[in-house]
Parts: sequence; structure tokens; C-alpha cells
Amino acid sequence: MNRLEGKSALITGAARGIGRHLAEAYVREGARVALCDIDAERARSAAAEIGKAAIAVEMDVTSQTSIDAAVHHITNIFDGIDILVNNAALFTAAPITDITRDDYARVFDINVSGTLFVMQAVAREMIARKLGGKIINMASQAGRRGEPLVAVYCATKAAVISLTQSAGLNLIEHGINVNAIAPGVVDGEHWDGVDALFAELENKNLGQKKQEVGAAVPFGRMGKAEDLAGMAIFLASKEADYIVAQTYNVDGGQWMS
Ligand SMILES: NC(=O)c1ccc[n+]([C@@H]2O[C@H](COP(=O)([O-])OP(=O)(O)OC[C@H]3O[C@@H](n4cnc5c(N)ncnc54)[C@H](O)[C@@H]3O)[C@@H](O)[C@H]2O)c1
Repeated sequence: MNRLEGKSALITGAARGIGRHLAEAYVREGARVALCDIDAERARSAAAEIGKAAIAVEMDVTSQTSIDAAVHHITNIFDGIDILVNNAALFTAAPITDITRDDYARVFDINVSGTLFVMQAVAREMIARKLGGKIINMASQAGRRGEPLVAVYCATKAAVISLTQSAGLNLIEHGINVNAIAPGVVDGEHWDGVDALFAELENKNLGQKKQEVGAAVPFGRMGKAEDLAGMAIFLASKEADYIVAQTYNVDGGQWMS
């Protein structure tokens, strides 16, 4: 349908899962996409499978040197970046009494500092180029309310929603729209890990947590990565020019706001 014809996109955490699926969806819409990930090898094979409109670039969102080098490289190759999807994240779970400072710092570093400083590096390029742009941050239903065993991750996703609001208000004067998507529960390798964590924490069988969360979704099942593509394409397109600082729930009816 070519809604992103001629556009170039940078997606973090694109070696697998939602990020990888969005990379494929953007390429189908006519964009060139840089799949950025700390897992460079997997990003390379994902880009090779997607085709020649996709490239893989190693990026650790917790390292400013790595962010700057990757953004500089992609800007040169694509002659500018039109779309950024801040998607890389880490999930951990623990009761409040067991959370460690190391775990807290690691999850905030990837999910919050990573989102902010990748956004900053790309926004500087977009401002210098004077062509505006679209930034989409991956939040979560976990950012809408706390969960008993997921305090740190929930807090990081609430921070992503807040950063989206502030950055959205700050950058729109440059024609840069910053918005976010809040998925619900999306099946894939990420949720395989979450399921295994809850099997330990809540003494469940493997697969039980997934079954429970899927059954609790009003739509009637867990989400799939492809359920997010429509919103991610829309927010990256010209159709979304007047949308500023918003977070959209794409979660099968889990959260209303
Ligand atoms: N899967 C879900 O149920 C769900 C629900 C709500 C929100 N989300 C959010 O959607 C996004 C994608 O989720 P997913 O399920 O595809 O996750 P995932 O765990 O499958 O993929 C995350 C990717 O981020 C990469 N990554 C991790 N640390 C990095 C770093 N320091 N630098 C660069 N890359 C790094 C990983 O290598 C991986 O490829 C995340 O922001 C997640 O919080 C997911």
C-alpha cells in the first residue's frame, strides 16, 4: 500500500518479536528500515530475511557511544531518518521485598534512559534536517497501572508514557510527532520468558500464565505482533500529522483511557 514510500526508519530491539515484525511491516509499506539491536547477529539474519530494504545495525541503547555511532551511520546510509520506533526493552519480575538495585538500574537504563537518549540523538538529526519526523515509543498496559510482582517494569513503562508527553510537546515545533503505543499481552519469545518467570514466582505450570492472561483479554486471546502493525504504520504516516504526545492502547480491550 506504500504508505511509507521513500521514508527511512530506525527501529530499536528489532532482532526479534514486535520490533522485527514492525520492520517487516514498514518495508512492505515502502520504507527502508535499520534493525538496531544489541543482538547484532540476530538482527543481521532478520534483516537478510526481510530483504534489501532492511539493514542491521548493532546498537546498545544503554551506551551513548553506541547510540551516537549507530544514529550517525544510519543517517549517512539513508540520507536522514524519518521515523524512529523506540522498542527495545527488558522485562523482569520480583516482589517488592526482593527487588535489587542492580536489577532496578538495568531495567531503567534500557527501558527509560534508552528511550530518552535514542529519541534525543534521532531528534537532533531530524531538527538539523528540517523535514520533521515521527517518533513512536513502545509503552505498555503495564505503564497504565502497577502490578504486584512487576513494580520496576511497570514504573519504566509509566515513565515512557510521561517522556512521550513531554517530548511530544517539546518537539512538535520542529514538525516531529512523538506518540506511543501501549500493547497488552503479546505472544512471542518475550512472553515465553514472562510465563517461565511467573511459573516460578506464582508456582504455576509452564504455559499456565499465558493461558490465564489470554483468557482475560476482552478480545478473547493474547495479542500477536501483527496486531500492532496497523497503529505503528498509521503513527509513522502523514495521516498522523495532527497527533501529538498521545499513547494509544492496542490491547484487545484491556485498558480504557
Ligand atoms: N510482548 C508483550 O507482551 C509486550 C506487551 C507490552 C509492551 N511490550 C513492549 O514492546 C516492545 C517489544 O517487546 P517484545 O515482546 O518484542 O520484546 P522482546 O524481548 O522479544 O524483544 C526485545 C528486543 O530488545 C533487544 N534489546 C534488549 N536490550 C537491548 C539493548 N540494551 N540495546 C538494544 N537492544 C536491546 C533484545 O535483544 C530483543 O531483540 C518492548 O518495549 C516491550 O516492553 C511488549
